[in-house]
Amino acid sequence: MIGHDEALRAVESSLDRPSAARVYDYFLGGDTNYAIDREFAHKLRERVPLIGQYMRTSRQFLGRAVRHCAQLGVTQFVDIGSGLPTAGNVHDVADEARPQLDTRVVYIDNEPVALAHSTLLLADSADPDRHCAIAGDMLKPDELWELVRGTGVIDLRQPVALVVNAVLHFIKDDADPDSILAAYREMLAPGSLLVLSQMTNENPRSDEERQALTDLVAYYEHTTNPGQLRTTDEFARFFGDWELLEPGLVYAPAWHPDGHTVFSAAPSESRVIGGVARKPAP
Ligand SMILES: C[S@@+](CC[C@H](N)C(=O)[O-])C[C@H]1O[C@@H](n2cnc3c(N)ncnc32)[C@H](O)[C@@H]1O
Repeated sequence: MIGHDEALRAVESSLDRPSAARVYDYFLGGDTNYAIDREFAHKLRERVPLIGQYMRTSRQFLGRAVRHCAQLGVTQFVDIGSGLPTAGNVHDVADEARPQLDTRVVYIDNEPVALAHSTLLLADSADPDRHCAIAGDMLKPDELWELVRGTGVIDLRQPVALVVNAVLHFIKDDADPDSILAAYREMLAPGSLLVLSQMTNENPRSDEERQALTDLVAYYEHTTNPGQLRTTDEFARFFGDWELLEPGLVYAPAWHPDGHTVFSAAPSESRVIGGVARKPAP
């Protein structure tokens, strides 16, 4: 756990650039964002008018995927890059799906404002035996796994749903996400589930849209979270040889849509792809 002074210093040093967590919060209608984030969000929306809908699509996929995992009987969740608390937090969705309240959630983010707010939210409304938020870097799987183990909230010998939702587009290929994902897949117990989604540049409607998506990536170079978009093929490798649950790796709105799903009539317009896979028995 980081101390108060350290947390304050981390927050202060994160405010000179927009952050992915706070920009996402803005588009989802939250109020944990700053002028620098809002100005950046407006610039994004000018270039990619549906960007807010893409972010809502990601958040909705998270909710449906977590509900599905809980209904399949997986009760432990590790949510890496959990972001700022907002509607549809993993522990809320999991508790709703399993009213016997036997689910456990560890939230992890490396964004100090997100971590501070997650900690506050949990202190107010969650069950400290079942829920916690920690600072951690997805790029350091061994270290991060020790932190998760140290919380005492999750039994890593049992199946876990590892959630990495709307995060991988902030991990460039030069950070070697293949090895990072392979390390997590290796450490998870058989029967574990992997929930992944990210933004895609696949099948843009026009050259104009292709250029707008390229510009979007360029804009993010000036935030705390530069990244890259990926096609379905480029993304599929993060599931390794795990068995994809139905309907596979698809445009996110096509993954078990419900009555609220944005783009459910035309999933390929969403620019978000996602899927859930299960670790086979050895
Ligand atoms: C767009 S938000 C997604 C929030 C949440 N997962 C959701 O789907 O609603 C991306 C989050 O990933 C976090 N993030 C990016 N790189 C990370 C890293 N290396 N380790 C941990 N978190 C990271 C950001 O701070 C941000 O909160």
